[in-house]
Amino acid sequence: MINMEYKDKQLDEVKVFKDPVHRYVHVRDLVIWDLIATKEFQRLRRIKQLGTTYVTFHGAEHSRFNHSLGVYEIVRRMIKNFQQDEGWHPEERLTALCAALLHDLGHGPFSHSFEKVFGLDHEKFTRNIILGDTEVNEVLKRVDKTFPEKVASVIQKTYDDKLVVSMISSQIDADRMDYLLRDAYYTGVSYGHFDMERILRVMRPTEDQVVVKVTGMHAVEDYIMSRYQMYWQVYFHPVTRSAEVILTKIFKRVKYLYKDGYAFQIEPTLLLPLFKGNVDIDSYLQLDESVVNYYFQRWQYETDPILSDLCDRFMNRRLFKYIEYDPEREKSKLDKLEELFERANIDSTYYLTIDSSKDLPYDVYRKGKDRVPIYLQTSSGEEKELSTHSVIVEAITGKTREDHKLYYPSEKIAAIEDTSLREEILKLLHVRSSHNMLQ
Ligand code: NI
Repeated sequence: MINMEYKDKQLDEVKVFKDPVHRYVHVRDLVIWDLIATKEFQRLRRIKQLGTTYVTFHGAEHSRFNHSLGVYEIVRRMIKNFQQDEGWHPEERLTALCAALLHDLGHGPFSHSFEKVFGLDHEKFTRNIILGDTEVNEVLKRVDKTFPEKVASVIQKTYDDKLVVSMISSQIDADRMDYLLRDAYYTGVSYGHFDMERILRVMRPTEDQVVVKVTGMHAVEDYIMSRYQMYWQVYFHPVTRSAEVILTKIFKRVKYLYKDGYAFQIEPTLLLPLFKGNVDIDSYLQLDESVVNYYFQRWQYETDPILSDLCDRFMNRRLFKYIEYDPEREKSKLDKLEELFERANIDSTYYLTIDSSKDLPYDVYRKGKDRVPIYLQTSSGEEKELSTHSVIVEAITGKTREDHKLYYPSEKIAAIEDTSLREEILKLLHVRSSHNMLQ
């Protein structure tokens, strides 16, 4: 142990984290143990994996910390299975494990809305936290001076060893496998489950990427379908999106009020770097969901009626209602509604919103760094792209599904005193259209 390099140092005994999805997460490497103990990694406990999904599925309170440990554990098991295979380069082991553990390090509070309003990119922050003056960087540098850059490049998908990249980001990677199983578990839905143990057993390392033995095709089909179901049943749930719309509007309002010189009773001190557009790593790392929820709690009592109303809605789950909306055919309806809202003194910037979701369940056509197709390995060692072999996958390959909803505050409309104006708005909102199909 004395002369052993830091990268090879092992704990005296395996540490295990009890995990409801993988049963146990096993840690033996000192480097991994030290990374988990850094404050940047511990921060992930205060960022929920599924943002506002808990307003719809109350079990969905799990954090990015849980998920990150899960992705690490899956990659650890992949490597264990690859050990006998000559396609695997053992010297990549620690790089792959660290990249798996740290891949979501740069997520902010309620990432989706947060990034949209402030023009941020969590992937850039992941990289900056790994390379910056942080505890994580300190640990990684002890392995080797170039090691932080190596780990960051795997996460950025620019690393030379494409096999390692594909283990963490491809169309069948440890990240997706963990979040599908974990999100299904915590939301309590019955779709989203697939036989990961089977997939791991039939995965093989090749020069360019992980491939799957053809005997595992049905397990892979199940995985693709579960992803498809989870997107539409959980991730794009219209009620979750309503809470997200409100959240986005709160950030937007606060940003506006700040620029307008509004005198906050509770100053958004920790958000100021975002408004000023000079977010350094230190101020970014101070932001988590406990901070943001604190502000929302207090801003319910601000004198600005829009901010206090939106925060009350978010904290107390008084969500916007929604109808289907067809952006191609109903633009004039939206214009009309905006005009009527204005007459009713309801600010449509904050109270009338179109939210769109779009998903591509599986893609072979657009080969890019995010879209490497899944390959099956036949018994003769040949590689075949999944959709040429699987009828089920072929049926959904390249198919995009879109969904658009129009969100509005029903209580505010009900409170409009001018009866004819109120009726006119209600009539427009109740005309239903459907734009929710496979194209
Ligand atoms: Ni992830």
